[in-house]
Amino acid sequence: DAYNEPYRPQIHFSPSVNFMNDPNGMFRHPGNGLWHLYYQYNPTAPVAGNQHWGHATSEDLWTWTNHPPAISPDKPGDGIFTGSAVVDVNNSSGFFNASVAPEDRIVAIYTLNNARETQEIAFSTDGGYTFTKYANNPVIDLNTSQFRDPKVHWDVQTSHWVMTVSLPQVYEILFFSSPDLKSWTELSRFKVSGLLGFQYECPGLFQVPTVGGPNDGTKTWVLWISINPGAPLGGSAMQYFFGDWNGTTFTPHDNAARIIDFGKDFYAAQTFFEVGNANTTTAIGWASNWQYTNDVPTTPWRSTMTVARQLSLRYVRYNPMYSNYVLVQTPISTARIEVGSFLNISTPTSESHSIDFAGWDGAVDIQASFLLPGGSGVELRIGASGNQVLKIGAAFGDPVTVYVDRRFAGRSWADGNVFFADRYSGMVMPNKRDDGSTHFSLHVIVDRSLVEVFANDGEASSVSNVFWDNDALPEKLDIVLGNQQVIMESLVVQKLRGTWN
Ligand code: FRU
Repeated sequence: DAYNEPYRPQIHFSPSVNFMNDPNGMFRHPGNGLWHLYYQYNPTAPVAGNQHWGHATSEDLWTWTNHPPAISPDKPGDGIFTGSAVVDVNNSSGFFNASVAPEDRIVAIYTLNNARETQEIAFSTDGGYTFTKYANNPVIDLNTSQFRDPKVHWDVQTSHWVMTVSLPQVYEILFFSSPDLKSWTELSRFKVSGLLGFQYECPGLFQVPTVGGPNDGTKTWVLWISINPGAPLGGSAMQYFFGDWNGTTFTPHDNAARIIDFGKDFYAAQTFFEVGNANTTTAIGWASNWQYTNDVPTTPWRSTMTVARQLSLRYVRYNPMYSNYVLVQTPISTARIEVGSFLNISTPTSESHSIDFAGWDGAVDIQASFLLPGGSGVELRIGASGNQVLKIGAAFGDPVTVYVDRRFAGRSWADGNVFFADRYSGMVMPNKRDDGSTHFSLHVIVDRSLVEVFANDGEASSVSNVFWDNDALPEKLDIVLGNQQVIMESLVVQKLRGTWN
């Protein structure tokens, strides 16, 4: 069955065959509301190379329709690398005549990779299905082999297009301005900040709603940067900075580098371009890591996208002395379409629970909330045949440590890969309610070989591939409360409607 191989995620986007990496060119059509997802795609092999822009669309960011690759290289050795897309409603580029409806005027901005890396553009008159490359490409050429991943937004302060693009191996993010997407002028550089690793890739600059603290109710600018290799857990990871963007320069509010995801499989995330809106707060990431992505045991495809998330900044108490904003990722709520419930507990309990999924081959959504302080913690053990177990848990305290341990969830492939069989942890501060009580919540999406974890409504998150032995599916969940004092306030375990049916 198409889209029903043993490891095939059922509620996450993946290509039917061959290799996918970064999300690219994401925009929302201003006429029909359709979400367009492009992605780095090798249509000829299940490993990276021969990069094209694959393409899919969605009405709800949940169910996806595949389309033929939208942008292909002209000659062998060329790669159409990562980039972005905008809707040029006012025809600033001059590519469109009056017969093309304003909302169908799509311009893609991407890196052409060959001996050099240059920035190129292509336009679509059919709303993003087919593209024609600009005759006078490249639009930016710095005569270097390391210059890539342009993300363009419409800057309301200057009424210009602004491109955020990377010089990966000198750790510089460059900002360029353009009136027409063709001629670009450098504005400023954001250099050597936070974690370095080997390369800076896939930068993005956007505004998010800000909740709590001194900036409550305003929008804050976020600059995020993907790093590969050399992330703290190995391979790829993403860091972000928040600060001010004045149309020319990005100035971070502090010198701190913050890691977005505490796991290993979240990279190259991008926000959707939405017309008239720099607040492009819906994002999708690539759920993999360059350390092992070319070897993972999925066939006939490799790689999956994360679920779409809404982004915001939330003010949290970091310790008694210091409060801080954190980037919050909330999986889109309209998307969690349940088709049935395994269990729904709404009265506080201090009992452990076991839930049997056997016979259900789709994705499972688990949402649990706990009362703090008191008690030691909780562990969710997601099991498959042969004693395989994925552990997701929390050690309660101030802060709460959240962890994912995939060392015992599928060994046969992981044992042959020195980088894969990991456990990792992040932290969140206990959630304070108005009545003074403190709480902790976990939201886990289990989708065959992909598991996403969100703690305290997205204040910490992690994405993990899990390759169960013998093509097993996760078939049970044990919720193990650490001791008698742990109080689980609520638990909802439900089946999710699949993406492909
Ligand atoms: C990030 C990346 C980008 C590049 C693309 C090539 O994962 O290395 O920097 O444009 O992948 O596929």
